[in-house]
Amino acid sequence: MCGIVCAISNQPVLPLLIEGLKRLEYRGYDSAGVALLDEDGFERTRSVGRIADLVAALGTGINNTSTAGIAHTRWATHGAPTRNNAHPHLTTGKLAIVHNGIIENHQSLREGLIKAGYHFESETDTEVILHEVDRQYQQTGNLYEAVRATVKRLKGAYAIGLISSDEPRRIVGARSGSPMVVGLGEDGHYIASDMAALLSVTHDFHIINDDELVEIDDDGVRISNLDGETVEREIFTSDQHAGAADLGEYRHYMLKEIHEQTQAVADTLEGRIAAQQVLTGIFGAQDEAIFKQTRAIQIIACGTSYHAGLVAQYWFEKYGMACRVEIASEFRSRKHTIADNTLLVTLSQSGETIDTLAALKIAREAGVAHTLTICNAPESTLVRESELVFMTHAGPEIGVASTKAFTTQLVSLLLLVVSVTRHHRLTQADETKIVKELRELPSIIDETLKREEEIARLATLFADKEHALFLGRGTQYPIAMEGALKLKEISYIHAEAYAAGELKHGPLALVDEKMPVIAVAPNNRLLEKLKSNIEEVRARGGHMLVFADDQARIDQTAGVEIINIGRVDNIIAPIVFTIPLQMLAYHVALIKGTDVDKPRNLAKSVTVE
Ligand code: F6R
Repeated sequence: MCGIVCAISNQPVLPLLIEGLKRLEYRGYDSAGVALLDEDGFERTRSVGRIADLVAALGTGINNTSTAGIAHTRWATHGAPTRNNAHPHLTTGKLAIVHNGIIENHQSLREGLIKAGYHFESETDTEVILHEVDRQYQQTGNLYEAVRATVKRLKGAYAIGLISSDEPRRIVGARSGSPMVVGLGEDGHYIASDMAALLSVTHDFHIINDDELVEIDDDGVRISNLDGETVEREIFTSDQHAGAADLGEYRHYMLKEIHEQTQAVADTLEGRIAAQQVLTGIFGAQDEAIFKQTRAIQIIACGTSYHAGLVAQYWFEKYGMACRVEIASEFRSRKHTIADNTLLVTLSQSGETIDTLAALKIAREAGVAHTLTICNAPESTLVRESELVFMTHAGPEIGVASTKAFTTQLVSLLLLVVSVTRHHRLTQADETKIVKELRELPSIIDETLKREEEIARLATLFADKEHALFLGRGTQYPIAMEGALKLKEISYIHAEAYAAGELKHGPLALVDEKMPVIAVAPNNRLLEKLKSNIEEVRARGGHMLVFADDQARIDQTAGVEIINIGRVDNIIAPIVFTIPLQMLAYHVALIKGTDVDKPRNLAKSVTVE
């Protein structure tokens, strides 16, 4: 997962390349680089670290006035995050490349190129593409043809941009498996990994599909297929504001995004529910016809999105609909049987997660009846490749640890549960009740956010711990998993989540005064059982933090801290209880002084295997 930005303009391109890289930093942030081209040739600067480090490395070069260039922010796959492995890569001083993706057959290509006399300067798979293009270029003398011949030889995923000093007013891009858009500006034409990178210069885009190439020059844009035939593409106008991704008054994007959940949930519900019912047609014109036939749900997702799917499984089954949930990377790597009339639901913030995309393709090939995606990126591949689409209106999520995307996924899933199961066990009374709870949800989230100070105080109990155990039952079990994931991602504390009933089947052995236990306590028939778990932990000297609602009546005793979340109905409880767990992870990370928005080793969008 890397980010690329390329530009041909009648204005100096460095400012927009740097701005674009900053907006793509969520995709990778271990090294960065830029190659600018003018009549004197290439001026390349690369550095290890963030875009700020690249700007520092540029020094007075920040005033460079070149009007063509390519830039990259990297998340290392092949080769350590060193300056030498950073992009752009250059060959013979006249050809430069940026690449996002992984080339699977790099080894065999590398061997052939070494035999042909090429010398490799980096450990990256990208350099293989560069030399192969160079070899083809020497035969064809045409950059576009050289790239076209090269990509036909590549196996794997790529979004590449290349520029040659022999054709200084042209950039050639190609895509397979990694996202790519072309921006159409007043002063020039641009290629980038996503639209957000280019919003400061344009809102008009062409989306490039797999197995397509694109050439940009001073006159325009040409998109073509691998046979070299021109492909017509409509213009997509983005309504995102360039400033939507700004930090504003907040210290971190994660904190901003936690606080945006009131609005994000309200926006996701807007136009989707009436006074007492969930509207039809909100998943697509054919949704009712498809949902009537649906006999089983298969959910596929990764990470946090997978946790949202696990909550939905409890909801679907409660109202009589069989539901399976699987991690996309597992789904794609095994044989499976898909029942007749299954609706395949993919969940993804980015819509570009490679495992989820691959799983969707496999399920389609296996003959799944219908596909639906719940996604936060309207222009993403997942949205384009799914039959039914439901957008979470969370707005841009920049913090690597997902927050508002998760809660809006849960809201969307609850709407889906109603829309599907009203043809099964869900009654009109159930629907009216769920809609009532959903209507109240934004203000309940708002109230919950007001507990931040209390949660910040509790975070001090964790900062010096190395491990933590999260417990939950029913729909709160996946929420415990999500709480543990948030804590480990941004505070680097090892955290595990268990279904509370499993405690005495093993993990209880770990509990002592050094292992805090966080329980998410539902106010339902499972509560009494959770109370016994609390006693089991207390009896072993463990310190317990219990998030409960005001009906739970759990006693605050030595070693047990109760955080009362107020009145929360069970159906929306998983959504509400997520908020304090996010805040807890955030405040622990703050105390530990980690890089909250860009935790080590991670990237926001996992577009490589
Ligand atoms: C965790 C997190 C990741 C993502 C996962 C899937 O905070 O953000 O676990 O949830 O990489 O990403 P999407 O939802 O974009 O498919």
